[in-house]
Amino acid sequence: MSDLRAAYWRLLRLTEDYFDGQTRGERRYAVPELPAPAPAPARQPAAGAARGALPARPAANGETLSRVAGEVAACRLCRLCEGRTNAVPGEGVPNPAVMVIGEGPGAVEDRSGRPFVGPAGRYLDRWLAAIELDRRRNCFIANVVKCRPPGNRDPNPDEVAACMPYLARQIDLLRPRALLAVGRVAADRLLGVARPLAAHRAGRYEHRGRPLFVTYHPSAVLRDPSLRAPVWEDLRKLRAFLDGA
Ligand code: URA
Ligand code: SF4
Repeated sequence: MSDLRAAYWRLLRLTEDYFDGQTRGERRYAVPELPAPAPAPARQPAAGAARGALPARPAANGETLSRVAGEVAACRLCRLCEGRTNAVPGEGVPNPAVMVIGEGPGAVEDRSGRPFVGPAGRYLDRWLAAIELDRRRNCFIANVVKCRPPGNRDPNPDEVAACMPYLARQIDLLRPRALLAVGRVAADRLLGVARPLAAHRAGRYEHRGRPLFVTYHPSAVLRDPSLRAPVWEDLRKLRAFLDGA
């Protein structure tokens, strides 16, 4: 219990760092030194392979993550292809402990082709670090749409419908132990029901045969610090599940 409390305070301090602006620019977050050993990584991606071009074992039908990423890069199935600089298929390791699913790329992600690398992404990385998760070791991070909606509007239902088969293929290939939907848009689309995030949080779910956890979007928490406590509760629940509690 005191370990969890220590981790909580560390998470809060990291949040304060963010608001102090100390972590902008080149400074990287420090991965908190948490007491328990991290879950063993399923497989280390090759250096530079983080954009979804992963050396994943091909499925029986020859399907691979890099094939999905290649199709996403060339995809014109919905109008979001028109405004994109880069599609953002997702990144992380195969067979992750957790697959995080966000809404869609923002401006920084669109420029870089990588998921969750802007301010919300740096904050998300800290949440994950606080429960011993890391996209380089034991997570995969993706979105319900792979191309940036103009002006960061919510993706339209037809755009999500066009894009979801890519996410489904990624989930089936990655075989994550758990899914974590961040934010109302991802939760609504994965659960097939639109309601406030607070209502989503109350339930227990599965998606494609994987346990699905739900929490607020890091951008929402940056805007409203009162959401930190419920997020920490959700992260603890996820960690307890991974620990087999
Ligand atoms: N917000 C999201 O939902 N996804 C990203 O990749 C970045 C910001
Ligand atoms: Fe294709 Fe998805 Fe991009 Fe639409 S958002 S163009 S479906 S990859």
